[in-house]
Amino acid sequence: MVTSSAPGKVYLFGEHAVVYGEPAVPCAIERRARVTAEEIDEGLVVHADDLQLDGFTVEYVGDDTDHPDVDAENSLVEAATGYVNEAVAQVRDAADAPDAGFEIWIESDIPLGAGLGSSAGVACAAIDAGCRELGVELPRAEIADRAYQVEAAVQDGEASRADTFCSAMGGAVRVEGDDCRRLEGVGNLPFVIGYDGGAGDTGELVAGVRELREEYDFAADTVEAIGDIVREGESVLGTEDTETLGELMDFNHGLLGALGVSSRSLDTMVWAARDAGAMGAKLTGAGGGGCVVALDETDAALTALKYTPGCDEAFRAALDTEGVRAE
Ligand code: MEV
Repeated sequence: MVTSSAPGKVYLFGEHAVVYGEPAVPCAIERRARVTAEEIDEGLVVHADDLQLDGFTVEYVGDDTDHPDVDAENSLVEAATGYVNEAVAQVRDAADAPDAGFEIWIESDIPLGAGLGSSAGVACAAIDAGCRELGVELPRAEIADRAYQVEAAVQDGEASRADTFCSAMGGAVRVEGDDCRRLEGVGNLPFVIGYDGGAGDTGELVAGVRELREEYDFAADTVEAIGDIVREGESVLGTEDTETLGELMDFNHGLLGALGVSSRSLDTMVWAARDAGAMGAKLTGAGGGGCVVALDETDAALTALKYTPGCDEAFRAALDTEGVRAE
């Protein structure tokens, strides 16, 4: 039995636009998904009983997510098992063991579907744990690539490499198309996260932006403008100029709102953080609900978020420089 873990992430800049080849800068945070894998004779059994929903256990055997033991009303449960299912396919391929069976346990301190990279964390940790259980140790770059295949398969091809590369490698990273690299010299940024207790459907949100972009030139221009923000942000990243970083985060949030991926609760948390003096605040990830990330060196934004109606949880998150690892 082997356990591996991989970090979640926040997007400093660039979600959604990264799907269309613009650059993005996600940063791994010290909140992890843990996956334990044990080889069994055949099939797949998944237990996922600590994913910060209402507490659930999934026991499912087979090769699709329609097993009757999966609560069909809980799409997040289906999603979690869907990612594990694809991750196990990657493990079988990587280890050249097409018939390997697995019992898998998922635990996570990253809320599911909330913009903190839970699916990428689960995919990376599942691939690493499954492979190690079969005696195969993959380099992190290969885990990143295989985890990307997992996300692309589950999200019908609507995925960039950003989440999975960040979770596999750790630290702050830059992703532009297939060009993925770690950004060295980025110190700890004073991230504060607000979580509304909800989740967005990444596939649907990405499809919504795609439609807008196809319908209106100004939506396509908005996506490109997000790319410009990322390029501008890169020039100050690693310097002391957190004020400019914050300003660019605010701008990025405005453009994501224009693309229709913010929500009332995300906007409320963004404004609560800004009103409390945060240098900048934006939604993180696919949007629709879930998390915002603010830059704040004092505890004012953290405290304000804790008392903001609609904010379920607020916490600080430090940069995690370590990617996927065996526990
Ligand atoms: C989701 O965490 C980030 C998106 O940009 C989708 C992706 O990059 O795959 C919305």
